[in-house]
Amino acid sequence: MKAISIFGLGYVGLCTAACFADRGFKVIGVDIDENKVKLLARGNSPIYEPGLEPTLRMATKAGRFLPTTDAKSALDSSDISIITVNTPSKAGGGIDLKHVESAARNVGSAMRESTNYHLVVIRSTVTPGTTQNVVKPILERFSLKSCGRDFGLCMNPEFLQEGDAIRGVLEPDRIVIGEFDKRSGDELKKLYRDFYREKMPPLIRTNLSTAEMIKYANNAFLATKISFINFIAGLCEKVEGADVELVAKAIGMDHRINPKFLRAGAGFGGSCFPKDVKALINFSRDLDLEPVLLEDVLKTNEGQAAHMVELAKNKLGELREKRVALLGLSFKPETDDIREAPSIKIIKRLLKEGAEVVVYDPAAMNNVRKIFANKIAHANSSIGTLAGADCCMIVTEWAEFSKLSPDDFKAKMKNALVIDGRRIYNPEVFSKKLDYVAIGLGGKRGKWARI
Ligand code: UGA
Repeated sequence: MKAISIFGLGYVGLCTAACFADRGFKVIGVDIDENKVKLLARGNSPIYEPGLEPTLRMATKAGRFLPTTDAKSALDSSDISIITVNTPSKAGGGIDLKHVESAARNVGSAMRESTNYHLVVIRSTVTPGTTQNVVKPILERFSLKSCGRDFGLCMNPEFLQEGDAIRGVLEPDRIVIGEFDKRSGDELKKLYRDFYREKMPPLIRTNLSTAEMIKYANNAFLATKISFINFIAGLCEKVEGADVELVAKAIGMDHRINPKFLRAGAGFGGSCFPKDVKALINFSRDLDLEPVLLEDVLKTNEGQAAHMVELAKNKLGELREKRVALLGLSFKPETDDIREAPSIKIIKRLLKEGAEVVVYDPAAMNNVRKIFANKIAHANSSIGTLAGADCCMIVTEWAEFSKLSPDDFKAKMKNALVIDGRRIYNPEVFSKKLDYVAIGLGGKRGKWARI
């Protein structure tokens, strides 16, 4: 079985490492962060992802996962290096390649002495052309070797979702192998055949730039689906009795559309969709193409957070000194990640309007505290957030919020107005008992359709 080095022990690197080590591969995890490496060597995960820590711990105990800061020793004892470092956004929206470049330099230098053919795989999200025009020259310059002859090069995008990443590695919808040449692609395919055996997922083999484009197109399309349904939600709100939930359900039954990523709400966030759509916009502009569609995807998304505040103002008028409770701060449930979360945009707007803001999230409180400190109040429970509030907004659909009944809101709030930004409540039940406003739900006089 092949031994693998993984450069960059962030969320993609660790999930990939854990799964390969669990299936018997020897995995050497390389990171420049010494503290992270020490933590991992003790069997602890620096990030929370369901199933990750126990898998890593078992693999570390069995000696199949070896975290280190030493690139050279990792290269010497492996056949394949997978680069999984992050590619953050730059100010103008493009991606910052500094981590990819530095990993490529490390891998290149470490390959210099080696006489074996080594395969280098880029799994970081990079704009089309990067592997060929940036990574390959660095590898060649630092290894003094020739790509194709002395080492192989592939671009292998990942499609992992936070919270579901282990399953994403074990059961991907497909594997995309972008290859510099046939030998590189064959080597990577062999690795995946050994990993998946009889359960090999569908495989797409292509060139490097198509593989890079696939990752961006994938995320941009999913983001477009969400903004599309959010636009339809806005229309539904203006039409008496119309309900976006049923619209999404019905159009999702068309197999050409499918029901996923059609949940209207407070907007998409996270470390990927906003960054990747911005990068693709930037990339299009560099090629003199007007990315109008993608610009509207982002604009619609930004608008959703603003719209949540507008819905409150429609009911309450001026928000000055009104107490607004926010339930849900993470960009999606089951994570403490608040990067680009709609909650942050909503809180900023509410504060600007002079509202008093009180928040609760089962996991993300500490992260939000770091941003707003004592500018907002922090509750200890969902019920506790409601006390004395003039309005409550559901911003992230954590399961525990669905358990709140209309009576819970009525008992605690000064004014029982619920703005359901994630459509977690039954409008029929809620609107009978309190002032219930929801994304994508038209005026009250229509009949609610049952889903
Ligand atoms: C996303 C993609 O789904 C992964 O395939 C991809 O690999 C990853 O980005 C990445 O590029 O690394 P992730 O950011 O973990 O994964 O989150 P998603 O589960 O896709 O959700 C993104 C956002 O869209 C969340 O804020 C979520 O609330 C929102 N969303 C999702 C909706 O508003 N409506 C939906 O119907 C679905």
